Amino acid sequence: MKSKIVGVGHYVPDNVVTNADLEKMMDTSSDWIIERTGIQERRWVVPGQDTNSGMAIKASHMALERAGLSPSDIDFIVFATLSPEYFFPGPGVTLQHEMGMDTVGALDIRAQCSGFIYGLSVADQYIKSGMYKNILVVGSEVQNIVLDKTTRGRGTAVLFGDGAGAAVLQPSRDGQSGILSTHLHSQGEHRDLLCLKEPGATGERFINQGLEQSMDIYPIMDGPAVFKHAVTRFDEVIRESLEANGMQPSDIDLFVPHQANLRISQMVQRKLRLRDDQVFNNIQRYGNTTAATIPIALSELWEQVRLQPGKIISLAAFGSGFTWASALIRW
Ligand code: UT7
Repeated sequence: MKSKIVGVGHYVPDNVVTNADLEKMMDTSSDWIIERTGIQERRWVVPGQDTNSGMAIKASHMALERAGLSPSDIDFIVFATLSPEYFFPGPGVTLQHEMGMDTVGALDIRAQCSGFIYGLSVADQYIKSGMYKNILVVGSEVQNIVLDKTTRGRGTAVLFGDGAGAAVLQPSRDGQSGILSTHLHSQGEHRDLLCLKEPGATGERFINQGLEQSMDIYPIMDGPAVFKHAVTRFDEVIRESLEANGMQPSDIDLFVPHQANLRISQMVQRKLRLRDDQVFNNIQRYGNTTAATIPIALSELWEQVRLQPGKIISLAAFGSGFTWASALIRW
């Protein structure tokens, strides 16, 4: 028994923010951003127009339509995000309510950039066990609101974008195609290398009236350290998935990396000796949308009719936590 992705969808806000727009907010340059990250533009929600769960709902409707299903067919929701609307509850329940679903379970995942693959892994197990038949896995982020858009925050502000992607999983009809395996990891000793501390339940937010002066309300990142770990862990976790299935890097038809930095994807591509046409990148247009990068990429690949039956697709992600993960799929 395998589970299979039978529909994918995505939604990004209309508001395009170019590198030139960022030059007006902080001391940066389009050349620096393109050279170090590959990013040319990103989408940032305009407050009052889009929300995290609102974008997730749009992406989910597209995924359901492509799967030939309606919201009432879904019997479980898995929602990955690091930028929920509320401190609690998580956005899974908002999606359940606003899509008019039955009182199905809604699980929120906190694994940052690896969140979508963690979510796929959870859905995969539920389907393989026979517990559920149609599961919606969503990754959605509104990150621009919490970025420090001054020169002080330029190391992170230029990287992140907003958007949502979704996938519908079902039991595989032929038993051959579908998710071959998923591999999940974490290493919390590095949690402070990429984090956003407030609002946290430590008391600071509620006691310290001067919090708006604190850097703790912005994401902080040791970029070079994250970069170094990412390149190693991406390679490791992809090879782990290949070994688990008796395959080699040359068996990969399409590698869809979490879109953290074009240079990271290119270094991993070189380590795996993959050609340019075997790797999908869209970070140039969207920046890093964290839990949403992989489902947005899959949805664009669906539109380009590049997800062909039998193709071996490798997904991998690395990010805050640290967490990292891979999924190997026979489409
Ligand atoms: O999904 C996982 C999440 N994150 C990542 O995967 C990010 C991984 N890390 C990276 O992508 C890279 O480390 C960055 C793109 C964040 C930074 O690139 P870098 O080549 O590692 O640069 P750096 O942090 O070593 O900074 C080099 C210089 C510094 O100036 P000095 O000290 O050499 O004078 C920075 O202050 O570039 C400066 N800098 C900038 N300059 C213009 C940092 N950010 C900017 C900026 N514009 N936006």
